[in-house]
Amino acid sequence: MTQIRFDTKAVANFIESHEYGEIQPLVTMAADQLRHRNGAGAEYTDWLTLPTDYDRDEFQRIQAAAKKIQSDSKVLVVIGIGGSYLGAKMAVDFLNPSFNNELSDDQRRGVKVYFAGNSLSATYLNDLIRTIGDQDFSVNVISKSGTTTEPSVAFRVFKQLLEKKYGAEGAKQRIYATTDANRGALHDEAEASDYETFIIPDGIGGRFSVLTAVGLLPIAASGADIEQLMAGAKDAQDAYTDNDINDNDAYRYAAIRRILYDKGYTTELLVNWEPSLQYLSEWWKQLMGESEGKNHKGIYPSSANYSTDLHSLGQYIQDGRRDLFETAVLLDQPVSDLDLPKSAGNGDGLQYLEGKTIDQINATAAKGVVMAHVDGGVPNLAIHIQKQDAYNLGYLIYFFELAVGISGYTFAINPFNQPGVEAYKTAMFALLGKPGYEAETKAFRARLD
Ligand code: PA5
Repeated sequence: MTQIRFDTKAVANFIESHEYGEIQPLVTMAADQLRHRNGAGAEYTDWLTLPTDYDRDEFQRIQAAAKKIQSDSKVLVVIGIGGSYLGAKMAVDFLNPSFNNELSDDQRRGVKVYFAGNSLSATYLNDLIRTIGDQDFSVNVISKSGTTTEPSVAFRVFKQLLEKKYGAEGAKQRIYATTDANRGALHDEAEASDYETFIIPDGIGGRFSVLTAVGLLPIAASGADIEQLMAGAKDAQDAYTDNDINDNDAYRYAAIRRILYDKGYTTELLVNWEPSLQYLSEWWKQLMGESEGKNHKGIYPSSANYSTDLHSLGQYIQDGRRDLFETAVLLDQPVSDLDLPKSAGNGDGLQYLEGKTIDQINATAAKGVVMAHVDGGVPNLAIHIQKQDAYNLGYLIYFFELAVGISGYTFAINPFNQPGVEAYKTAMFALLGKPGYEAETKAFRARLD
């Protein structure tokens, strides 16, 4: 049974019914490439069967490590960037209370989770060090290549902090490395220092890695249920097998995105109405953008957090350039609800809302926004999930991963590589004078003059 309700009513004005039939052969071709693993980048598609085919022993070790972290630490610093960061951040935010790190130990299920290594901001690092203060902490450093500058810099800082606090041996007991099985600077250091190590499988790229140790260890340490996360993903894997876009919502979503793109709707906004879903959009942006943005093609993935962005981007969305469409992720049930307090007078003009809950008002606002935006020429899609829990998140993760695999192949690109990410690294290494980049250093430094 499908757990996601994919609502396409609000694209009816933008897509004619015959267009669904016309796109089906392209989707079928993409699905064949993906399923038979003969398309570009097929060696990075192990995420397809990950929910049923993962290393159970490592999964147990992840749970044991999470328990150890919870028993000897108040804080886990998770160091990583891109695909080695966004999935864990998304899930930790999605599955825990809004102010989890500020809750007391009694109120919190697991440790406080802070993220580092996704910028080169000294101020951020100093602030985080001050925030940790004298609390016991552990570090999970995550890097497939083991050589990415931002996490390597942050790891050096926090390793030194651990060593000062716990001594060299004590520090080693608090460092968890998630990296490649065989190679890379982090792999080599983890082996030499005997850190507890988890593997990023070869066949799974960074942006598809949230259901590996990359995401699972921080998520489990936060107290969330990773078994339910995998169970949701497994049910999605079982549910989305049909090639027919009328029977497969993940494929239908990919098909609609492609139809809209061909009509000039080249930017997609992933929309939410819950602040705790903000990083769902950040994770999704990497998944979509790094997968599709190749050969000067692909839908530009953006996001909007409502109501906040109605008061910033709202004007543009309603009436700016007509190349946008929106996909809302909506919860059928909020985690919690609140009655609008009754008031004796009507000084604030809210009496007409009395008797409603705040979530009912939120849901009605969402419906109103769809109507206004559709009237303004913005096609709207909605992905309804039943609850904000681990099972539904696992299901949703798989839905999006599968959809972008299909949609990427409809663009005739390799959805599973990311050559463009290297360009900035080369320029940065050249300017910083990294050994091995001598020719580039000369060329890039000349451009500064
Ligand atoms: O999707 C990707 O591959 C990238 O975003 C990487 O995850 C990111 O560059 C971090 O790389 P690494 O895990 O090697 O440190």
